[in-house]
Amino acid sequence: MQEIMCKNEQETKEFAKNFASKLNKGDVIVLTGDLGAGKTKFVEGVLAYFGLQEEISSPTFTIVNEYHNEKIDIYHFDLYRLGDIYEFENIGGEEYFNKGLCIFEWGELIEDILPNDYIKITIDNGNSDEERKLIIETFGAKYEGLNF
Ligand SMILES: Nc1ncnc2c1ncn2[C@@H]1O[C@H](COP(=O)(O)OP(=O)(O)O)[C@@H](O)[C@H]1O
Ligand SMILES: [Mg+2]
Repeated sequence: MQEIMCKNEQETKEFAKNFASKLNKGDVIVLTGDLGAGKTKFVEGVLAYFGLQEEISSPTFTIVNEYHNEKIDIYHFDLYRLGDIYEFENIGGEEYFNKGLCIFEWGELIEDILPNDYIKITIDNGNSDEERKLIIETFGAKYEGLNF
């Protein structure tokens, strides 16, 4: 487990950009934290690293947004409105795990059916309005010993 303090939105995005440099197709990232924690800002940092659009549109009824270029296919899920794990299975959610880089906001909702290897980032409040604590945990042998 690693903990990283980010003083403001910019630092969170910078950390996410650097974190993204270690990611590839087949990686699964779970982002956990309250509404307004900074999960979507983190995803913007990941997208920026791959040269994909920085401003994320969040259409109300879309569970997954896709971003593609020659380097990577990114599937960004926001599971906030997901009813239950069966709904995820019904939309063929598990088929995405190997398709590209998958990032799940509120991914703890599908933790039971995630692959063995994944990285979980919990975003907690810090000591000021704009500070956040990022807690990084890895699951599975794939990410053992990796430093962020
Ligand atoms: N250190 C920080 N990291 C990320 N976002 C921050 C930080 N400090 C303040 N913010 C603000 O918090 C909000 C996070 O929003 P968002 O990323 O949409 O949250 P979530 O997706 O977790 O609901 C943004 O308005 C952002 O400007
Ligand atoms: Mg969000």
